Amino acid sequence: MEVIVLLGPDDVARVAADVVAGVVRRRPGAVLGLATGSSPVGVYAELARRVAAGELDLSGVSGFALDEYVGLPAGHPESYAAVLARDVTGPLGLDPARVHVPDGRAADLEAAAEDYEQAIAAAGGVDVQLLGIGANGHIGFNEPTSSFGSRTRLKTLAPRTRADNARFFASPDEVPMHCLTQGLGTILGARRLLLVAQGSAKAEAVAAAVEGPLTSMCPASALQLHPRATVVVDEAAAVRLTLLDHYRQVYAHKPAWQRP
Ligand code: F6R
Repeated sequence: MEVIVLLGPDDVARVAADVVAGVVRRRPGAVLGLATGSSPVGVYAELARRVAAGELDLSGVSGFALDEYVGLPAGHPESYAAVLARDVTGPLGLDPARVHVPDGRAADLEAAAEDYEQAIAAAGGVDVQLLGIGANGHIGFNEPTSSFGSRTRLKTLAPRTRADNARFFASPDEVPMHCLTQGLGTILGARRLLLVAQGSAKAEAVAAAVEGPLTSMCPASALQLHPRATVVVDEAAAVRLTLLDHYRQVYAHKPAWQRP
């Protein structure tokens, strides 16, 4: 996989936005896989800035969220449907009718998961999937021991994930126990993967994903199976990587034709 190590979060946001913008330039009707949480916030802000400046038009793209909490009341501000509508769809000028989120309020969650898989397939699959990484190595909400072949389904959040996400809720007890998440197999079906990570809290997970063994104990190690995965990290998130110099050298000498 391609590993790009940059000075700080702003550089991560800029380079990741370049990748997304490059995909959309080549295909204005591209399908974007949308992550939520803190990691992609800067990427979205940079894309929104380019849209506002008239440098980028995202009005023709479709979006598919990675995951959604189960059981939050309609319109809950921390549901990923609400987060995407507020922080992504509007600022990036996406068409709300083309932004999809798994239905975490469905009476039949199994059917909702299947419908979501079908919707992704009907859209022609995801062109570029933006990903964050959990401190426990999860991508989407595929917690450790998730199958590499998994599809969208109900998952129980790991205690670490619920604790990490408690910052978005009034109390830790309010963090839902369950979610619907694209599976690792679903994510691997995207034509391009783009994982961003910033800060020392992610250093261990990044090293395990990039340089550790392929293991469901680190779900993000599934990126090793993908022919086109790019990991963009800042210095702090890169400190546990052993081949740091190699990644720097590869990026410094990346041929112009390979750049976004
Ligand atoms: C969010 C998601 C998660 C997060 C991960 C990191 O849609 O799928 O995998 O990307 O939990 O969260 P942050 O970015 O908040 O540290």
